Amino acid sequence: MDKLRITGGRSLHGRIRISGAKNAVLPILAASLLANESVSIRRVPQLQDVSTMMNLLSTMGVGVVVESSDGVGIDPSTISNPFADYSLVKTMRASILVLGPLLAKVGEAIVSLPGGCAIGARPVNLHVDGLRALGAEVAVENGYIHAKASQLKGAHILLDSVTVTGTQNLMMAATLADGKTVLENAAREPEVVDLANFLNRMGAKISGAGSATIKIEGVESLHGVEYNVIADRIETGTYLVAAAITGGSVELVDTNPVLLESVLLKLEEAGADLDIRENSIALDMGGRRAQAVTLTTSPHPAFPTDMQAQFMALNTVAKGVGMVTETIFENRFMHVPELQRMGANIRMQGHTVVVDGVESLTGARVMATDLRASAGLVLAGLAAKGETVIERIYHIDRGYETIEEKLMQLGADIERLP
Ligand code: EPZ
Repeated sequence: MDKLRITGGRSLHGRIRISGAKNAVLPILAASLLANESVSIRRVPQLQDVSTMMNLLSTMGVGVVVESSDGVGIDPSTISNPFADYSLVKTMRASILVLGPLLAKVGEAIVSLPGGCAIGARPVNLHVDGLRALGAEVAVENGYIHAKASQLKGAHILLDSVTVTGTQNLMMAATLADGKTVLENAAREPEVVDLANFLNRMGAKISGAGSATIKIEGVESLHGVEYNVIADRIETGTYLVAAAITGGSVELVDTNPVLLESVLLKLEEAGADLDIRENSIALDMGGRRAQAVTLTTSPHPAFPTDMQAQFMALNTVAKGVGMVTETIFENRFMHVPELQRMGANIRMQGHTVVVDGVESLTGARVMATDLRASAGLVLAGLAAKGETVIERIYHIDRGYETIEEKLMQLGADIERLP
């Protein structure tokens, strides 16, 4: 298994381009199933999760063509097998996103339950309840969701709790339902908005995406489209923290500051100087050590859980004490013991972690446990004195396109070991 070796202590400087958003591409690839013509998607990042989704679509008989370095063509007219096997779904939970589109398009879907992952049990009860409300017959047995519906019917659905992929699944299913659907307590993430824009460009009638109430007017069919996906706000936030934790200055281009306002506010609180333009963000620490920040993760537009590990890493070497509270997932602190091995002064108190910043961390062998925890460990390695070796970095390859090349471009001393 690949490892990353980092020799820390250098401040990062330079400019890098941000890739398309993983968590927008995944639902948009699934939504392509709904069209009765081919669609072309641009700004598709080369990530493990994206290839997994493309493999999953091909196993269903869907035509998947790589059109360019960041372009993918999907021909959904040949769906022959509405089945998502456990072997693929267990490697990527977001496979659940094919459930709604398959049900709406072909009237049937057999999708493996995703199962849990390192950060939590990750149930999909809200997806299933919502599809039943839309008139589907759903049986959950032998680890699979068997869903059937000759014709979905619009419904008024109040989601018990905010779920990003749950909102996306139900929104996709409702586009071809008979009549009007209202989703209340919907997720407001930018990736929900990007999916709604994609669907509307295909002829869907969706309004209110980005607010807590989304309205979908069912239509007969959806046509083809060419679509550019939004920038990845979590990749953007991660590289901004890389500059902040090393006292450097970076410029990130082809991104959109509006997607991560809560993160930018926290970076300013940490003492960063930001230069925010329409499609770029520059951060300059001027060699200063960051101030510790206190944060609580919450659904968008509040602070994203996917940036929690990265800010915890920043707090480990910041001035003062920062409190980090995780409210979305029940087990998203697995980076804590790894950071402690690097000399971090961290105390866990239930869902809150108290970080007392130290002058500097020391490099160590550490283990990645999930996608964003591994990003946190990379950031800690960049700041630590000496050498850090991060094992099981297949986690990081799921969500960060060519991470070592981008960090090398910023002057980091990093290499991938076989
Ligand atoms: C999406 O996961 C993202 N993944 C996650 O990013 C992100 O951390 C998460 O949203 C929260 O922002 C993708 O978009 C592919 P949820 P999702 O449903 O949709 C509970 C990354 O690093 N819940 O919003 O699976 C659930 O257990 C990944 O890129 C139910 O109880 O998250 C969790 O506690 C990690 N029942 C909370 O809701 C359900 O039916 C939020 O989950 C669904 C969810």
